[in-house]
This record gives sequence, structure tokens and C-alpha cells, in this order.
Amino acid sequence: MYFASMELLEIKNTFDHPLLNRMVKNYRHFRKQSKKTESDCFRVYDRDIPEFPLSIDYYAGKFQVQYYSNEESEDVPDDLTEAVETGLKTIFGIGNGDIFWKIRKKRALLEQYEKMSDSKDYFISKENGISFYINLKDYLDSGLFLDHRPSREFIAHQAASKAVLNLYSYTASFSLYCAQAGASGTVSVDMSNTYTDWARENFILNGFDIKKNILVREDCAKYLKQAHDRRERYDIIIIDPPTISRSKKMDEMFDVNTDHSNLILSASKLLRSNESIIFFSTNSRKFKMDEELNGKFKIEDISHRTIPEGFRDKKIHKVYIIKFK
Ligand SMILES: C[S@@+](CC[C@H](N)C(=O)[O-])C[C@H]1O[C@@H](n2cnc3c(N)ncnc32)[C@H](O)[C@@H]1O
Repeated sequence: MYFASMELLEIKNTFDHPLLNRMVKNYRHFRKQSKKTESDCFRVYDRDIPEFPLSIDYYAGKFQVQYYSNEESEDVPDDLTEAVETGLKTIFGIGNGDIFWKIRKKRALLEQYEKMSDSKDYFISKENGISFYINLKDYLDSGLFLDHRPSREFIAHQAASKAVLNLYSYTASFSLYCAQAGASGTVSVDMSNTYTDWARENFILNGFDIKKNILVREDCAKYLKQAHDRRERYDIIIIDPPTISRSKKMDEMFDVNTDHSNLILSASKLLRSNESIIFFSTNSRKFKMDEELNGKFKIEDISHRTIPEGFRDKKIHKVYIIKFK
């Protein structure tokens, strides 16, 4: 089912089309860096040209093209599909099977997580020497959020010998980075069976010890209560929740804009010491950290340091480091 590829594609030269030129320029730039860092995934285009409202991500020889729909139409216009596909095939010499279109709906919040197909077509891509299973067919998201690469590097940098709790862990990319950096142990919590299984495969793929890197399928609010009763303690707690979460598995709906304060307070009970940190991240554009938290915590907004090169949207996520005062 799985195959590996660390090949970076050879490409043709310049083109008289602005979209193609932009992609070639970006691809060349990242290819140089990627060879040094043992990475083969990066963004090659990000809405640079208004007529092309797309982002294009490269994963080990395949391309995920995300179209940002407007209010009037949710379909990709035919001339845009044609321009992008012809361009990618011409520059990179790839086939139809290597291009995966995703439509990002403006108003969608919950339906984004619906399954698109059941191909189970996974392949391997690397970031900083860590391997990840990627699936560009079955879900809207690939298995590795490229916008959080600097955040993963930031956390890994301080994870040696630390106990790490990763809440809303998805495929556990933050935990994998921590394991690689020599964390004493990681616990990754996600409500989804699919993502918990995917995360486990990622740990096995990298040869990390599954006994030291625990995966828990649970609602994070419930997990925090149980962990508090068990007196668990962590040096680093990563919290990267969806904007809204609603499921039969949960007692109450979660909305990051109204519920982040309780979530942070609840997680903070598991911090080991005043040196311990909460890494909090959100994609909600209207997010404002509850000011009352300033009474108890020192909160640093490090968002500007966590946007990868090549990402035009500087508001793609917000990131805060939270410590006891
Ligand atoms: C934005 S993704 C997290 C991305 C992840 N931090 C990363 O960088 O790869 C949100 C995740 O939260 C999970 N989730 C949503 N509601 C949850 C809940 N109440 N408890 C646990 N996990 C939840 C989803 O299954 C999804 O994997």
C-alpha cells in the first residue's frame, strides 16, 4: 500500500506564463533548501497572482492544488484547471495521477473534515528527516499541515528530555518531532480513530518506541479531566484545536473563540513547573486571547515567527506561548 520517494523532480526552464514562472522560481528555491534539510514537501505557490486564487503544495513528486472558492461559485473554472494542469505537467513532467484538487469553501467549518473517498492511497514524504504518511485522495487535509513547520521546529528545539502532551494531535506531527528531538515521552490525544491510527503508523514508520509515544483516542476535554485525576504532569503541552468541534463523542460542543480560556486553564493544571509551557495555536481569524488569562499567565504571541517562507497568508494561524507568571 505504501511507497517511499525522496526524489525531487527535475524541471524545465522558464515560461512566459506568470503562474508557471512563479512556481518554477519557488520550486527551485525550496528544492535547494530541501536537499540540505532532508525534506521533500513545501508550498510552491500561494495566491501570489489574483487571477489564480490557489495554493499549490508539493509532496514527494505530487501536487495538492487548493482552490479558494468565492461566494458565487464553488467549482474550479475550466480555464483555471486547464492552465494549472498543463503548467504542472509541462514543468515537472508529471501525469494526471499526480495532481490532486481540493476546494476550500469560504463558509465551510465542519464539513471540511468529511471524507472524500476511501482509496487508502498513502505515500511517504519527509520533513527534516522525519517520515510522514501522506494521503492526497481521501481527505481535504493531507496528513501534514505545511504551515506549522516552523512551529514544529520551535517545539522540537526545546523537547529534549521533556514530557510532552499533544492535544488535538491529528497525525501527531508535533509528537513525532518531539520524539525525534529526544523527548522523554509523548502523549497524543485525538478524538478520531482514523487519525489516531494514522499517527501510530507514522511512529512505526520512523521506528519510534510506541510505548514511550502513547496515542489516545479521546475527547480532549475528557482526557484533561482524567489526566488531572491521575496527576499527570507535562513540561510541554501543545494545543491546536479546530475552530469548532462537535461530535457524539463529546459532552459539549467546542468553539475556540468562546472556550479557549477554559481549555487553557484546564491544561495548565498539568504543567509541571513555572518553566513548563503551553503552545497554543488556532486557525480562527477572529481569535482574540481572553485578557483575563493575563492575570495568571505570561502570554507571548509568536505568530510572526511561525509562518513559513512561501506562505503569503500571514494570518493562516496564530501561535501563543503560555507560561505561569
Ligand atoms: C487542526 S487539527 C490539529 C492539527 C495538528 N495539531 C497538526 O499540527 O498536525 C484538529 C484535530 O482535532 C481533532 N479533534 C476535533 N475535536 C476534538 C476533540 N474534542 N477532542 C480531541 N480531538 C479533537 C480532529 O480529529 C483533528 O485531528
